[in-house]
Amino acid sequence: MAKSHPGNGPAGFPKALKLPNGRNVTVRLIGYEDKVGILAFARSLPHDDLLFLRTDITEPEVVEEWLSNVKKGNTATVVAEFDGKIVGYSSVHTDQARWTRRVGEIRVQVAPAFRGSGLGRHLAAEIFKIGQERGVKKMAAMMTPDQAGARAAFDKLGFQVEALLQDWVIDRDGHPRDLLIMSHDLEGLSDQISA
Ligand SMILES: CC(C)(COP(=O)(O)OP(=O)(O)OC[C@H]1O[C@@H](n2cnc3c(N)ncnc32)[C@H](O)[C@@H]1OP(=O)(O)O)[C@@H](O)C(=O)NCCC(=O)NCCS
Repeated sequence: MAKSHPGNGPAGFPKALKLPNGRNVTVRLIGYEDKVGILAFARSLPHDDLLFLRTDITEPEVVEEWLSNVKKGNTATVVAEFDGKIVGYSSVHTDQARWTRRVGEIRVQVAPAFRGSGLGRHLAAEIFKIGQERGVKKMAAMMTPDQAGARAAFDKLGFQVEALLQDWVIDRDGHPRDLLIMSHDLEGLSDQISA
């Protein structure tokens, strides 16, 4: 049974989602009590996924900062829960004080065992709606070109390549990598991406 979270009401959260493989997932807004669950999720990810994390969410302080950004309103996060465990999330990051505030940064992460069944698409669609409500006009997704699966998935979600920046980021192993920025306009977007 999904827990009740402050602020979960207006957008209709929590939502029940049945995946094509028959698994019933609950989709809801993140809450401060999810710190342990997010850490467990992050620490269960394969090395290759961790290599490319924008921030190291296996670290408690980083997750705390994330949750405090949610509280401040700079970040919105939707989590997918299965059997009491977090199996995916999507976030949009905005900073209202910056001149880039019309662009929101989307992050989506799904547990390997749940990939390829529409969960990533669903989580992205939820965060698109929240981004639109917050005045975001463009969603940007950041990855390295090495993340071929993510690149293919974001292509399918309607994202286009915006920029490729050479040696722009350092991976978790300390190696420089190119940064691929993909974007998706939200203005005039209706059901192009649907949950
Ligand atoms: C990217 C990610 C979130 C996709 O999640 P998912 O649950 O597998 O995605 P879905 O099943 O909803 O698939 C969405 C679309 O992408 C396609 N897709 C997903 N993974 C793909 C892959 N590896 N190769 C090609 N296409 C892929 C699906 O076919 C689907 O398209 P369709 O609906 O037109 O058939 C997941 O692979 C992931 O967590 N990757 C690691 C984290 C990451 O790199 N995130 C991106 C940076 S923010």
